[in-house]
Amino acid sequence: MNFAELKTLYKLTLAPIRGNNQEERLESFYKGQANHYDDFRKKLLPGRKEFFQKIDWDKVNHWIDLGCGTGQNLDFVPPDRLAKIKRIDLVDLSSSLLEVCQERIKKSKLRNARILKADVTEKLPLDDKADLITFSYSLSMISDWILAIENAQKHLRPNGQFAVVDFYVAKKYPPYGAAQHGWFTRNFWPNWFANDNVFLSPDLLPYLKTHFSEVALSESFAELPYLPGLKVPYFYFIGTKMETTHKGQGRNDEFKSARTLGGKKSRIKTHFENFSSNVFNWSDSIYWPFHVQGLSS
Ligand SMILES: C[S@@+](CC[C@H](N)C(=O)[O-])C[C@H]1O[C@@H](n2cnc3c(N)ncnc32)[C@H](O)[C@@H]1O
Repeated sequence: MNFAELKTLYKLTLAPIRGNNQEERLESFYKGQANHYDDFRKKLLPGRKEFFQKIDWDKVNHWIDLGCGTGQNLDFVPPDRLAKIKRIDLVDLSSSLLEVCQERIKKSKLRNARILKADVTEKLPLDDKADLITFSYSLSMISDWILAIENAQKHLRPNGQFAVVDFYVAKKYPPYGAAQHGWFTRNFWPNWFANDNVFLSPDLLPYLKTHFSEVALSESFAELPYLPGLKVPYFYFIGTKMETTHKGQGRNDEFKSARTLGGKKSRIKTHFENFSSNVFNWSDSIYWPFHVQGLSS
């Protein structure tokens, strides 16, 4: 193990996370590891390669990646496909990770990508609807993940792909055909990840299944670095926007109960006044994420 890995491991396991809000907590967690983030997360975040291979890229003109981090997901898209996408919006709340993302875009000379600094649980300054919205290991970091999904859905075109890959645990009594997890898995992993403010939910996958028409689903286990013998459950789900019948009520009978999974009615905050300072290069009609307020170019 080299020094960079040791430092990242310390941040992941021992270092306290401080802050009065999500942005401060993310900075406290990521600041010391942003530059080594990619190498470590390649080992830590499983299934992303396969997940991105399952996406129907032929249908994607506009992609929004929510909780994009350093933009590593760009590396999982075949380069010829990536170049054909007209617009890629990379959204995250961590300045440290977005700086790395900015460097990545600069190096790859991607002219169709832009970076937005925003909280995905708040109204997003995106004017156009996308054909693909992805959350890759970001929903588990957002305690109000229902709000983030509801918010994101508003930016998805009808029949657009909504795709999530993340850690999770199964319900104690999952529906027929779904993966079952034993007592240790259901109890150990949520506690272990909670140290890093990562919240594994038994409700996330059922929620996605009841809100989107399923296109692809995989439930698997993966080994994590430095935890030999233990395997963590993760899933990927790709769905399309479900038709609604009456005032946002879906066709699926389970839909109603799924809406109450969060235990409270969702609230969409409108913080338009913050957008001008939060949005990177928002006014630029060419999507070029440099010369951005808050990030050096
Ligand atoms: C585990 S990282 C995954 C990063 C990236 N999607 C990947 O797969 O490499 C989770 C990301 O979610 C971001 N995040 C957490 N809460 C957020 C929020 N409320 N709004 C925007 N981004 C958020 C973090 O800053 C972090 O970049």
